[in-house]
Amino acid sequence: MSGERLRVCVIGSGGREHALAVALARTADVVVNPGNAGMAALGVSCSVGEPEAVEADLYLIGPEGPLVDGLADRLRAAGRSVFGPGADGARLEGSKAWMKQVLASAGVPTAAYGSFDQPGPALDFLRSLPSPWVVKTDGLAAGKGVLVTGDLDEAASDVVAKLSGASFGAAGRRVVIEEGLSGRELSLMAVCDGHRAVALAPAQDFKRAGDGDTGNNTGGMGAYSPVPGVGDDLVNEVMDGAVLPTLAALRERGIDYRGVLYAGIMLTADGPKVLEFNVRFADPETQVVLPRWDGDVASVLAAAAAGRLDSVDAPRFTPNASVPVVLAAPGYPEAPRTGEVIDGFAAASEIEGIQLFAAGVGKAPGGGGLVTSGGRVLAVGATGPSLTAARKQVYDAVPVLSWPDVKYRTDIAAEAARREVNA
Ligand code: AMP
Ligand code: GLY
Repeated sequence: MSGERLRVCVIGSGGREHALAVALARTADVVVNPGNAGMAALGVSCSVGEPEAVEADLYLIGPEGPLVDGLADRLRAAGRSVFGPGADGARLEGSKAWMKQVLASAGVPTAAYGSFDQPGPALDFLRSLPSPWVVKTDGLAAGKGVLVTGDLDEAASDVVAKLSGASFGAAGRRVVIEEGLSGRELSLMAVCDGHRAVALAPAQDFKRAGDGDTGNNTGGMGAYSPVPGVGDDLVNEVMDGAVLPTLAALRERGIDYRGVLYAGIMLTADGPKVLEFNVRFADPETQVVLPRWDGDVASVLAAAAAGRLDSVDAPRFTPNASVPVVLAAPGYPEAPRTGEVIDGFAAASEIEGIQLFAAGVGKAPGGGGLVTSGGRVLAVGATGPSLTAARKQVYDAVPVLSWPDVKYRTDIAAEAARREVNA
């Protein structure tokens, strides 16, 4: 039988790639390149070296960096089948100013904005806007390049620091300044084949470092799915009003976009608006959405890579609720301290119903145990009949894991669980 299974190479090393590997492995043989020591310890096959050297039927590129750098183009040029956009489509995430232009041309609802590379006009525009002020690096900044603040002086200093290159290097030498929106946020990922797109289950993530949405923006500290109150109508509205028009606008520019379009949405009083598009699976939303995907994930992604989403059934999702909580290194996101021994990894992985998603997990020098090797170290996830049940399972398991000054939020999915109980 195994000769007939699709061989998939997942490129990346984080919790998202771990979750993809687990979901794909239901029907495919999976290698993660390069992966990390934590997923390897949990039985995921990892390979170091160039991705081209891995023999596979399908290559799935996880992170935005290699997509923006054209890894998908290089693999396609070598005759490989790839799930992930080329550098042309990945520019949506690589340049927020370009993304805003594409959204405007496609008529997609989004915040009013200006884009600047000089402080004078940038500060004039900033001061013309009401609170809150939103300042974004044009280029990639690992989810940390966005400042939202009610303090105009802080926003102005941020503009100057970004444009000078002091805070984010080249990524900040152009900034996008936006109208501040308010509302609940939603992450919606769509699998695209160049022409068609199918939605995955919506999720919510938690971007701020601290409880109660305090502290700096991070790559994401936890997530949950499904999102109470968000049903098919809203998903269809985002697909028809944002995802499909964007795909069409890309096609008009000659871009054959095959991969995930992941919309960050704000549910405003005027309807859903796009905060941003990313060109990849979301992290940590993938860790809650993929466990709910009921079916053959590998076939759907392979069909999208081949431009043939019409040849497979649309993804279906179990009604189960899923929650992961990210455990981070002390000092994350500003200056994570790594190299600490991780205690309880094996014990936590053996708890019934608990899934670990390893991200910044490395091998101790000398081949000992596992150590922290990144800002977001791992996520503890569970899937259950309700958000309340899943989050209880997760938070019961979290204390089993530890390293000095481990940092995590205690309120992931708390409010949604309350809404669920009162519904
Ligand atoms: P982004 O990376 O563009 O999604 O921004 C990161 C986070 O900043 C979002 O998840 C929002 O919480 C916040 N944000 C971004 N743009 C805006 C905006 N125009 N108004 C209010 N908050 C925003
Ligand atoms: N969850 C935030 C991101 O993947 O960018």
